[in-house]
Amino acid sequence: MNKLNLQNRYQFQALSESDTKRLATEMAKQTQAGIVITLDGDLGAGKTTFSQAFAKGIGITEIVNSPTFVIIKEYEGERLPLYHMDVYRLSIEEADELGLEEYFYGNGVCLVEWSSKITELLPSNRLEIFISHLGDQKREFEIIPRGELYINCCENMKKNGVLS
Ligand SMILES: Nc1ncnc2c1ncn2[C@@H]1O[C@H](COP(=O)(O)OP(=O)(O)OP(=O)(O)O)[C@@H](O)[C@H]1O
Ligand SMILES: [Mg+2]
Repeated sequence: MNKLNLQNRYQFQALSESDTKRLATEMAKQTQAGIVITLDGDLGAGKTTFSQAFAKGIGITEIVNSPTFVIIKEYEGERLPLYHMDVYRLSIEEADELGLEEYFYGNGVCLVEWSSKITELLPSNRLEIFISHLGDQKREFEIIPRGELYINCCENMKKNGVLS
């Protein structure tokens, strides 16, 4: 398989909330400075649940809440700052004015809920996560790495048996 194939797609099935948290914890282990992870899926799909476990995984001890009404929340991690965004309520113009690029191209870790609202502003290299709500606790994650760094992350998680 060509490792640089940008069409790579990976899957993860969650049968419970703890499975979602396990995925987030595994991803946090792969995390390095400057990464951008987008999270899309219906209301209640699990974007914030994922983000909370991810934050814990990178050593953030503060409580991570949904940033829906504040758009962006910054947390100081052990190694890296986390920028947790929810752009559901933003227009492209507003997002542009907020200067989100500074975060996307900075040295922290960005988690962007509802990123599809601002696709034009996203960096071309990113990890896209789409969550489908299949049932009470059942979720399907589709993960698309854009760029070599993210492909390597996914390949590592595939080798570890986390992603298929
Ligand atoms: N497998 C699962 N993964 C994630 N959350 C789950 C799962 N099963 C049940 N849940 C529940 O679903 C809800 C997910 O809510 P969450 O706030 O994470 O969604 P969201 O995608 O961020 O929604 P919003 O679009 O409103 O921001 C929580 O109440 C969580 O307990
Ligand atoms: Mg949310």
